Amino acid sequence: MIKVLLIGNGAREHVIAETVKRSAHNTALFACMKANNPGIASLSDDVLIESYDNMEKIGKFARENSVDFAIIGPEDPLNNGIVDFLKNEGIPSVGPTKSLARLETSKAFTRNLLEKYDIPGNPSFRTFSSLEGIEEFIGGLEGVVVKPDGLTGGKGVMVQGDHFQTKDEAIEHCEKILEKHSSVMVEEKFEGEEFSLQCLCDGITVVATPPVQDHKRRFVDDKGPNTGGMGSYSLEDHSLPFLKREDVAEGLAITRRVAEAIHQETGEYYKGVMYGGFIVTRDGVRLLEYNARFGDPEAMNILPLLKTDFVDICRAIINGTLKDIDIEFEKKATVCKYIVPRGYGLPADHPDAGSTSSKIEVSNTKGVKLYYSSVDKREDGLYMTTSRAIGVVGIADNLDRAEQMAEGAISSIKGSIDHRPDIGTKALIDKRIQHMKEVRG
Ligand code: GLY
Repeated sequence: MIKVLLIGNGAREHVIAETVKRSAHNTALFACMKANNPGIASLSDDVLIESYDNMEKIGKFARENSVDFAIIGPEDPLNNGIVDFLKNEGIPSVGPTKSLARLETSKAFTRNLLEKYDIPGNPSFRTFSSLEGIEEFIGGLEGVVVKPDGLTGGKGVMVQGDHFQTKDEAIEHCEKILEKHSSVMVEEKFEGEEFSLQCLCDGITVVATPPVQDHKRRFVDDKGPNTGGMGSYSLEDHSLPFLKREDVAEGLAITRRVAEAIHQETGEYYKGVMYGGFIVTRDGVRLLEYNARFGDPEAMNILPLLKTDFVDICRAIINGTLKDIDIEFEKKATVCKYIVPRGYGLPADHPDAGSTSSKIEVSNTKGVKLYYSSVDKREDGLYMTTSRAIGVVGIADNLDRAEQMAEGAISSIKGSIDHRPDIGTKALIDKRIQHMKEVRG
């Protein structure tokens, strides 16, 4: 029997749990969650409900259950050094050490790494620990992006044209960021279409999974505040409608060079997921950021399509033998739409912001996959909290059908819910294609 420890309690971890349990090996799953996810719990042999910074408790749970390896879902435990802690206990992980998780946790680390090793993909950028010099640097940029040099749950990036208009406002945002963080990154803004490329890495070999497009904005037509992600889609040909084959190859080539640079720089092998947030511009593919884990929602697009045994992949990542296995995905299209409470993602001063827990009734969702995120299973049913509730995933031979399946299921879910009906629709895809045509000129 292979015993797997899974850390995390979101929809991403629910699909990871499902993929572990699909393994042909006899697997036992032990889940450490900071809040009880009923989907993960139902697949687990035992669960520990604990904060991710209580490493002693997590270590004890892992030892007591004699786990063979751990899979770390979210960025917080990576940032806390859970992989280093478990390594000291003799438990290997799919997930990087605290130092290598800087790929995600320090935007400056990653930008400097690309620069030092002459890897393409960087914008003009500078890191500032005070306001000194910011105005001058911003003055030389056509468009500006500002972000804290740290974890922000996908919500800390401020983009000119989207979140603010003028360079003075950019400076004001820098000032606000510096009140809370030790440094702020100021970067040149890229124009183009974004895609997520989640790559598996054993430190030497890097394998790309099918590209996915996420939708960060809260409302239809990419309006409203940024969220953790409202939904995502992937295509049956393992490309995206606005991408050329060479765009994906470029993203993979950058990631391969980054994996090599990480080893050269630190002497350590990166073991886990390198999820590149890329943007295709007029001049080719550029890197927005890396995450040191699967994407949420993007994991729900690719893991259900995985044909290769996931436990074998995890062991190959740990043992450095990824080059010896063929990793295959079904040629299907996927559409994931998150259902969220109506108040989700709204600014705190908005009258509908937050909203209290409310009941949802899920029925008639046969044929689609449901991955639980922030839901609470009580005796009288399922309740949402204030965050993303359920990832609803349609999987079909083409995008239209996958989208219809997701919508059909959502229409049967009752409660005070919201979602983005435009994700995966022809109208939105056509807009992306048209935008990319204009960008490429
Ligand atoms: N899809 C955004 C994230 O996982 O950070």
